[in-house]
Amino acid sequence: MKFEKNLAFARALDKKDPLKSFRNKFLIPKVNGKSSLYFTGNSLGLQPKTAKKFINEELADWANLGVEGHLHSRRPWLYYHRFSKKALSKVVGANPSEVVAMNQLTVNLHLMLVSFYQPTSERFKIIAEQGAFPSDQYAFESQLKFHGLDPEQALVELQPRPGEHALRTPDILQAIKENEKQLALVLLSGVQYYTGQWFDVRAITKAGHDAGALVGFDLAHAVGNVPLSLHRDEVDFSIWCSYKYLNSGPGGIAGAFVHEKHAQRFDLPRFAGWWGHDEKERFQMKKGFQPMAGVDGWQLSNVPIFQSAAHLASLEIFEEAGMNNLRRKSVQLTNYLEFLLKEIDPDENHFSIITPTNSAERGCQLSLLMKQKGKKVFDRITRQGVIADWREPDAIRVAPVPLYNRFEDVWQFARIFKEALSR
Ligand SMILES: Cc1ncc(COP(=O)(O)O)c(C=O)c1O
Repeated sequence: MKFEKNLAFARALDKKDPLKSFRNKFLIPKVNGKSSLYFTGNSLGLQPKTAKKFINEELADWANLGVEGHLHSRRPWLYYHRFSKKALSKVVGANPSEVVAMNQLTVNLHLMLVSFYQPTSERFKIIAEQGAFPSDQYAFESQLKFHGLDPEQALVELQPRPGEHALRTPDILQAIKENEKQLALVLLSGVQYYTGQWFDVRAITKAGHDAGALVGFDLAHAVGNVPLSLHRDEVDFSIWCSYKYLNSGPGGIAGAFVHEKHAQRFDLPRFAGWWGHDEKERFQMKKGFQPMAGVDGWQLSNVPIFQSAAHLASLEIFEEAGMNNLRRKSVQLTNYLEFLLKEIDPDENHFSIITPTNSAERGCQLSLLMKQKGKKVFDRITRQGVIADWREPDAIRVAPVPLYNRFEDVWQFARIFKEALSR
């Protein structure tokens, strides 16, 4: 599509947008009494209007039924983890039995590493990206030390080529090949939190498997942002959080995927809890852990109902919108943002976009590396009602989210940003 830089063009795109009604399903924060220009769905997604209803229903059932709510509430708490499976499985491209909402992301990462990172004296290396989200780095470091290994020896951190910000897929595949004799696990982001790069999940998984390793992904920035096919791509395991693109609220319940091929791997070491125990026997309170088949066997604790209720409210919206429709709009919306930004600073005197230009290699987020006065510019746009994200020392991340951002929002952002640069 040929873009134009006038407001009428942006408004015309909004008018034609088949998903335009979805914005009205969300509460848009206000700044100075006006709707903000909210571009931080990559950090905390907005509240679906229905979240309150879902949570209130649980509060009412608790009030009316007390403990009986475990079995007799409208969504019995005992089985609550089942209610999100269908929608979640569509969001990540999996079978319902391969996904479960549970815990928090870093907890799930540790649980998965306990099971799927089994170093031996020959195979002990983990490949990750340099500059992975700190929580992941701490998880890798602590898991390696737990196994008595030196992170300096066992962790291979992939770096972009000098002068580049994104990793090239052939370089990733080559690094896997080079380490194949010692490689135990490849664990990358789906979408990198800082650069916004979307990795080639299928190619990386295949290369990891060809090298005799297992492959997992941290999908914090990918889930609900880009279409995924975890089952078809044969990914071994994944984890994600739900407070970003999945709009399930601060500290929202996280998720995990374990591929069907591991569903019956009861031999895998795992850190167990009663909610992963065979459901039929759970309340017999017997000794001896018998995991449930599939990812459900990795659950630890009974389900946090209020977080999960907010999650269901959001997933209902995803079911209605459909990931493919969202992706179609997302590509246009982000391409439009890129077009307007390039118009502002064609020679990259003030900033450069470090997110890949190819839309097949990114989700909705663009990361702008500021060359001068970055924080001042950020503070100015904030005062003008933009809610974006500042990353020290010099990056602004902007994420137009197809569920609730309009083309006009993108246009307004570009106008305010241009003004802030020129002052
Ligand atoms: C890529 C990535 N990994 C891990 C985390 C940590 O998540 P949590 O605090 O839910 O464990 C985040 C949080 O933003 C993240 O973006």
